[in-house]
Amino acid sequence: MLDYAAKKAQARGIGNVDFLPGGFLTYRHQGRPLQAIVSQIALHHLPDFWKQIALLRMAGMLRAGGKLCLRDIVYSFDPRGHERAINEFVSGAEELAGHSFAARIIDHIKKEYSTMDWIMRGMIERAGFEITQVQLKEGFFGLYLCTKI
Ligand SMILES: C[S@@+](CC[C@H](N)C(=O)[O-])C[C@H]1O[C@@H](n2cnc3c(N)ncnc32)[C@H](O)[C@@H]1O
Repeated sequence: MLDYAAKKAQARGIGNVDFLPGGFLTYRHQGRPLQAIVSQIALHHLPDFWKQIALLRMAGMLRAGGKLCLRDIVYSFDPRGHERAINEFVSGAEELAGHSFAARIIDHIKKEYSTMDWIMRGMIERAGFEITQVQLKEGFFGLYLCTKI
């Protein structure tokens, strides 16, 4: 991903970016506190306890008032109707991008750690953020704009 991102930046003539290896649980920030963190479709790789630790670590790297923009696959459908919600989402994905993409979605739902919106909000707040905006899409996507208190 780092090579891919570096090539993309180069192709667009963007030179003021550093690409550093590190995970949610391993990256150690050096220097001044950060103004903002953006995380996209990645936090679901961690089970909930470790998501909470990752969010605490992110809060620890930000200055007071710093921003977190977190987007991920997060469930906001009613779990009582989960079979229908999942079937509809997978069929939509298949129509849009074909069978192998739909198979990847099924794999994600079975094996990865996407959590529910209310749990995600609780974890974000317990990490020391105020959630200023939430966008939920299709019962499966969540975007959380947050400010470190
Ligand atoms: C579905 S890809 C999304 C990639 C990219 N953010 C995007 O939106 O196109 C999931 C990403 O999560 C990253 N990832 C998995 N485990 C991680 C961890 N423990 N810490 C940080 N990133 C992780 C993977 O390296 C991968 O780049």
